[in-house]
Amino acid sequence: MRDVAIIGAGMTPFGELWGSSLRDLFVDAALEALRDAGIDHLDAIYVGNMSGGQFVGQEHLGPLMADHLGMAGVPSTRVESACASGGAALRAAFFEVASGASDFVLASGVEKMNDGADVTAVLATAADQENEVYHGVTFPGLYALIARAHMQTHGTTLEDLAAVAVKNHAHGALNPKAQFRQKVTTEQVMASSMVADPLRLLHCSPVSDGAAAVVLCPLDRAKELSKHPVKIRGSGMASSAMALADRRDPAHLDAVNLAGNRAYQMARLGPRDIHVAEVHDCFAIAELCVIEALCFTERGSAGAATRAGETALGGRIPINTSGGLKSKGHPVGATGVAQVIEIVEQLRGEAGERQVRNAAIGLTQNMGGSGASSVVHIFERV
Ligand code: COA
Repeated sequence: MRDVAIIGAGMTPFGELWGSSLRDLFVDAALEALRDAGIDHLDAIYVGNMSGGQFVGQEHLGPLMADHLGMAGVPSTRVESACASGGAALRAAFFEVASGASDFVLASGVEKMNDGADVTAVLATAADQENEVYHGVTFPGLYALIARAHMQTHGTTLEDLAAVAVKNHAHGALNPKAQFRQKVTTEQVMASSMVADPLRLLHCSPVSDGAAAVVLCPLDRAKELSKHPVKIRGSGMASSAMALADRRDPAHLDAVNLAGNRAYQMARLGPRDIHVAEVHDCFAIAELCVIEALCFTERGSAGAATRAGETALGGRIPINTSGGLKSKGHPVGATGVAQVIEIVEQLRGEAGERQVRNAAIGLTQNMGGSGASSVVHIFERV
């Protein structure tokens, strides 16, 4: 396999973007990525998207997006893995370049959730229809069950959950593209409206529109074309039982652990080598479970580590410097690629007030549903 690097990145702001359609969002992000890469042609396009059909009535996004980018003719495929669609699109693009099949490939993600659809019902299609959704559970409900299991097994507290939201809003306040740029206090989180006990409004990621795109090419070409290429050192993916009730321990995200171990193995690195990470905090409890599954903290100690500031900017292992899904926003199909963009900016030294000093190795973790699929990538400054 060839070494692969990212040479261009672009994303729209995240939020309620009523003035932009699904295709507008994609084109804005893709053009920014192409401009950043300094190229005007592509050999292939991957479009991560969870549910264009249900959110806006549009399927068959591959050719639609290539056409509106002015690139009809280029092979272009939609990749779907629920909220992990963006991460899965990056993985497909990575292997296409690594295999030698293509030189310049766009990995992108896009979602338009604010367009009148019943968002909670659409998102629930990523859970087990027969064993979970039929009985009325929603995504906030599933993560509330995970939170209860974690609290019962490990003694995680409501203050631990609030600390994730407080930290990620503080990071998001520094990100011009974030949906919510206001800081919140523990008291505000604990007093926000109840969504699914114990998860409150400020423990949840919002409903968002947005797109993100990166350009990949072989590392040797990247060195000619870019002042600051970012090499992809590892890619891991895994699946787990779809229904929470079918997992041995609902508080342990086994697909995240497997995907992480596969990425660490490919990169020949371990959790202690990572300087900064973007993880899938769709709900505050998810961030705690994920950083345990990636072995950034011991099992059961992520809450205490978060409250101690270990995962904040300036801490031992800064997590979600972009603001995470919580504050930056979560247009589901775009999220996995937007996470990569934050790491690219960090490794290029272009993250402004969010910059982690001397960041050379970064990680992204993206997941679908309540953790039934997970994708992990590891990146290195070249
Ligand atoms: N965090 C912070 N503020 C939020 C927010 C969030 N997640 N969601 C909405 N708000 C704000 C809105 O901006 C609005 O503020 P305003 O009154 O100042 O304008 C207010 O809260 C009410 O917004 P509204 O859109 O009516 O909220 P809602 O009750 O319809 O939705 C949630 C709130 C939490 C239910 C919704 O955001 C949600 O479903 N989130 C989870 C999404 C999800 O499951 N993603 C997939 C994960 S796997």
